[in-house]
Amino acid sequence: MFLKMDNVGKYFHNEEKQSTFEVFSGIDISVEENQFVSILGPSGCGKSTLLSMVAGLEPASEGEMILEGKEIKQPGPDRGMVFQQPALFPWLNVRDNVTFPLKGKMSRTEANKQADHYLKMVQLSRFKENYIYELSGGMQQRVAIARALAMDPKILLMDEPFGALDEQTRYIMHDELMKIWQETKKTILFVTHSIQEAIKLSDRIIVMGTRPGRIIADITVDIARPRKRGILEAIELEERIMGLLEGEINKVLKEELTNEVEFTR
Ligand SMILES: Nc1ncnc2c1ncn2[C@@H]1O[C@H](COP(=O)(O)OP(=O)(O)O)[C@@H](O)[C@H]1O
Ligand SMILES: [Mg+2]
Repeated sequence: MFLKMDNVGKYFHNEEKQSTFEVFSGIDISVEENQFVSILGPSGCGKSTLLSMVAGLEPASEGEMILEGKEIKQPGPDRGMVFQQPALFPWLNVRDNVTFPLKGKMSRTEANKQADHYLKMVQLSRFKENYIYELSGGMQQRVAIARALAMDPKILLMDEPFGALDEQTRYIMHDELMKIWQETKKTILFVTHSIQEAIKLSDRIIVMGTRPGRIIADITVDIARPRKRGILEAIELEERIMGLLEGEINKVLKEELTNEVEFTR
């Protein structure tokens, strides 16, 4: 198995309150190479925490994560991250942002060549010399994707990468990401709270529940690509997932709001 999470749990200890908060436990997820897997769940169920653990940024409290036979203990160039906020350097132009993580790993000429290849893939060739503030939100996120790809990682870890974009830009980015995925054959682990987004993109959707976080479904998406909006199979799947999440969302509402608000479809 390419990536295997085996009985993974995460707890945060609060020294001051002498208490322990369980984010999730008993997470078993196996991902095959080249698979596009989404992790879908309500806010706070631990999606970002789980992804940071795969990235090697957070240690597991229990269980283990194995990538290509090796336990994940720290970040590595085999994993590229893309976050909701692109976190680019404003004092560097587009190309220099992409080559930044390649510094010391190859010559400047090679790094530029690598950057240009991926900037072409994300359709930013014309903007190589531009600064970040000159780009739209969607273009900035393309730079972040090119930067993650430039390391030639085995797996791309994406945490709500299009969550801050407007709807039209998000649709365009979905098509772009599908093209990139098909071209590069990367494995993608994609965190989202959008059911439609998960259905549009994924081979598989892992649905998480919350308080504490856990897996409530692992769904294979058998819909031919490209997946157009509004097709019956997608709507049916959306309804099914909504049904799974309804109770979970209400659990969050009950804890977070004092007045009674109920979420129904
Ligand atoms: N460093 C931390 N210390 C304490 N609690 C944390 C920390 N990071 C995350 N949490 C808690 O873990 C839970 C899951 O967070 P997160 O992974 O960000 O959820 P999601 O991405 O699904 O919205 C939340 O309740 C959050 O408050
Ligand atoms: Mg998150």
